Amino acid sequence: MSHNTFGHLFRVTTWGESHGPALGCIVDGCPPGITITEAELQHWLDKRKPGQSRFVTQRREADAVRILSGVMPQENSDVLITTGTPVSMMIENTDQRSKDYSDIARSYRPGHADYSYDSKYGIRDYRGGGRSSARETAARVAAGGLARKVMPEVTVRGALVQIGKIAINRDNWDWDIIGDNPFFCPDPDTVPRWESHLDDVRKAGSSVGAVIEVVADGVAAGLGAPIYAKLDQDIASYLMSINAVKGVEIGNGFEAARITGEDNADEMRIGADGEPVFLSNNAGGIAGGISTGQQIVARFAVKPTSSILTERRSIDADGNEIDVRTKGRHDPCVGIRAVPIGEAMLACALADHYLRHRGQTGRI
Ligand SMILES: Cc1cc2nc3c(=O)[nH]c(=O)nc-3n(C[C@H](O)[C@H](O)[C@H](O)COP(=O)(O)O)c2cc1C
Repeated sequence: MSHNTFGHLFRVTTWGESHGPALGCIVDGCPPGITITEAELQHWLDKRKPGQSRFVTQRREADAVRILSGVMPQENSDVLITTGTPVSMMIENTDQRSKDYSDIARSYRPGHADYSYDSKYGIRDYRGGGRSSARETAARVAAGGLARKVMPEVTVRGALVQIGKIAINRDNWDWDIIGDNPFFCPDPDTVPRWESHLDDVRKAGSSVGAVIEVVADGVAAGLGAPIYAKLDQDIASYLMSINAVKGVEIGNGFEAARITGEDNADEMRIGADGEPVFLSNNAGGIAGGISTGQQIVARFAVKPTSSILTERRSIDADGNEIDVRTKGRHDPCVGIRAVPIGEAMLACALADHYLRHRGQTGRI
């Protein structure tokens, strides 16, 4: 199976399956001289790891990341310094329960990758979804941690802005409370509403979708290119590659189709410091495929988890019509843990373009 690599200069290859002994990634192209500790990477992995609240899968994984290559330890400290050679990172799988999946070995969960995967490869590691499992995204989060270190002046953050039909009130947006609730929710008033909604969903054995917003501050003007390496094109592709993502918006996204040119124009003035100032950011910080220096804003929609306890009609690998009811430990709303994954993918896309911009123009 090919197509496990993304990026041009910050080039990430991930490997591993849900129920294999371990998974990980190799980042080729990471510049030399970047200092990092495993604890710094672990911070991001801990945000994604399962079992942290009743609203996510109860699989218990430490998701402890180890850096195997591409770094040299600094004397008498935990600090590692990148050498410019491939950085390999590994996360062991420790809490697999392959037996939970024996029922779906030959049956296809509607909405999951089972049927399409079998159609393509003719062989499928059904245990935990194999390579289609979002466990693979732990490796991306590790790569994202390194990507952040490539561009220290850039801050990438994410928040859950909608679960099912319940959206946050954007007027209440407070980044400081994101880490204080189980949803990465920026609106304190929405937290109890999501809690009670998700409890109902979970008790019913059902699932629900969500919308995540990721933003980057401190991105200089100039990242991207006018056509085949548009920054928005690559961000959309990176976010779309996350499991269960069915839609991506940059800036005001689909709203741009509903408003006039006057309202959509991001008007400009010269600020007191003599630098350009934008009066709005409908474009999400990208115009003509190139960053404008404004905040980069993207949103993505994830579908409801397809592994649900409610019976759904399907077929099996022997051509029988069957009803499928999926047991096991599943996220009732995969959008929650998709927040740190979205942040990581945005960081990787930006780091790649940051290095490409530096390579082509010599600036930054
Ligand atoms: C963080 C995260 C956790 C996920 N957990 C589950 C899960 O527990 N059960 C499940 O059926 N799908 C889960 N998914 C979604 C599947 O991996 C995904 O739907 C499947 O691979 C089919 O791909 P597609 O939805 O992109 O078409 C998860 C996705 C994410 C982002």
